[in-house]
Amino acid sequence: MKNIVILTGSGISAESGIATFRDKDGVWAKYDYRDVATPEGFAANPALVHSFYNARRTALPDVQPNAAHFALAKLETALQNIGGQFTLITQNVDDLHERAGVSHILHMHGELLKSYCNACDAVRPCGEELSLESVCNVCFKTGTLRPYVVWFGEMPRYMDEAMDAILSADLFVSIGTSGSVYPAAGFVSEARSLGVEAVELNLEPSENAHLFSDSRYGPATEVVPKWVDDITEKIKS
Ligand code: APR
Repeated sequence: MKNIVILTGSGISAESGIATFRDKDGVWAKYDYRDVATPEGFAANPALVHSFYNARRTALPDVQPNAAHFALAKLETALQNIGGQFTLITQNVDDLHERAGVSHILHMHGELLKSYCNACDAVRPCGEELSLESVCNVCFKTGTLRPYVVWFGEMPRYMDEAMDAILSADLFVSIGTSGSVYPAAGFVSEARSLGVEAVELNLEPSENAHLFSDSRYGPATEVVPKWVDDITEKIKS
């Protein structure tokens, strides 16, 4: 067991205080995703979209990684120590995996703490509020910045790298995701078609729970550290 691919969703950050999307009190219970998470929504009302992401971006410093985030950083180190490969593909746009110490992260849905300039394609760190008055610090145009987040209908990032990692994986693990958004929701089928073992660690069975060869259910802060301890023993043996 030397090559593990992990996919995470908003459920891994839930106990840190970041709302998930489809739980009963989730983000999409409060907002229509078409208004705040599509290019059409941004074109129609950029101020609403900026305020949606500004609130989430400026709240991040007050949010801390939890035991599940730290457990994945420990697993990455354990694999590196045996010359193994650890790939973390996350659907999350928060920076909790980074702050927990994970180094190899594929943010397939983008990152809240970065901005993108529609005029010059510059991607820059961004911790502050964005608006139509924001000025790009590369091309110095005004009103061209948007959140560096992948919206519905846009191409997720790092797909080639993600598929390459799954192709050479010994194990695929899905943590804290409902399995309702593709292409991330299709990774387990890719893994299983390649004969790769797949584990689901989630609060409850996801939409594609039946595709996994193993599963453990419960809060990520309990289930993930315990699973990491068990798999680390296996890696070392
Ligand atoms: N521990 C573990 N899992 C949890 C916890 C918890 N404490 N709380 C919730 N979950 C699980 C839920 O049971 C659910 O299966 O996390 C999952 C969250 O699912 P969604 O809200 O659909 O979030 P996610 O799967 O990350 O959504 C994928 O959809 O809206 C887009 O771009 C957005 O990246 C997001 C994508």
